Amino acid sequence: MPPVLDPSLCQRCGMCSRVCVFGLADTCDDGLPSFPDGAFCLECGHCIAVCPSGALSITGAGAPPAFPAGGNVSPEALGGYMRSRRSIRHYQEKSVDRRVLEEIFDIVRFAPTAANRQPVEWLIVHDTGTVRTLTGLAADWMRETAGRDSLYRTFPDAWDEGRDLICHGAPHLVVAHARADDTLASGDAMIALAHLDLALPAFGLGGCWAGLFTGAAASYPPLAEALGLPEGHRPFGTLLLGYPKYAYTSVPPRKQPAMRWL
Ligand SMILES: Cc1cc2nc3c(=O)[nH]c(=O)nc-3n(C[C@H](O)[C@H](O)[C@H](O)COP(=O)(O)O)c2cc1C
Repeated sequence: MPPVLDPSLCQRCGMCSRVCVFGLADTCDDGLPSFPDGAFCLECGHCIAVCPSGALSITGAGAPPAFPAGGNVSPEALGGYMRSRRSIRHYQEKSVDRRVLEEIFDIVRFAPTAANRQPVEWLIVHDTGTVRTLTGLAADWMRETAGRDSLYRTFPDAWDEGRDLICHGAPHLVVAHARADDTLASGDAMIALAHLDLALPAFGLGGCWAGLFTGAAASYPPLAEALGLPEGHRPFGTLLLGYPKYAYTSVPPRKQPAMRWL
């Protein structure tokens, strides 16, 4: 659906027309933009976001807020922040307040998605006891499916000995899920999870991608049942999170970027 225009607010600058992916907004004689009836609109929201006077809205409910203060970060600050983000595998025995997580997800929801469809939903396992139960089910799956000499035996064997190498004793975990038949959702979920992962240190938190857990959640019916995702949904990724127990003092070695210029 093309956006709704409030002519009384429109400054007739034509910016909405210029940024529209399909060039939908044509300027009428009176300088006001007009969106053709029935035209395919991506609902990317760029016309709304670029409008200097809040004249456009998707629902007619008014303009979204302008950029909050602090929207700009220096390259030095960004580089330092992104390089110092670590996978956290040791957590304090301290719960993260739900309001903090809500604040983080209010940032993460601005991650880009294909065609701005925003198909990713979140399951937040806040109860630490439930995290342990789910981890036990993931260990069951590995025990049942891994060959006797497989490297994967390490994980259920450690679990049986009281060591959690699957979810690292994290107090909470978050599963990004979406419709299994949505061919674009996998990329959207990865981007959303990467935003979440990157947001955590700003709140004094840390996370770790849990690929092993996601594999179990996608394949093991008892774990899938315990997660209770909506019908037709599948898990695309899992992030463990909590307060880090240890501080890092430097960055693990990384390769130089493999770059080819044309
Ligand atoms: C898709 C993905 C899945 C991962 N799965 C696991 C996992 O199951 N267990 C784990 O301990 N770390 C997991 N990791 C963390 C990586 O091992 C880690 O990112 C890598 O060693 C680099 O360390 P850094 O994140 O501290 O820079 C995963 C990372 C990614 C991106």
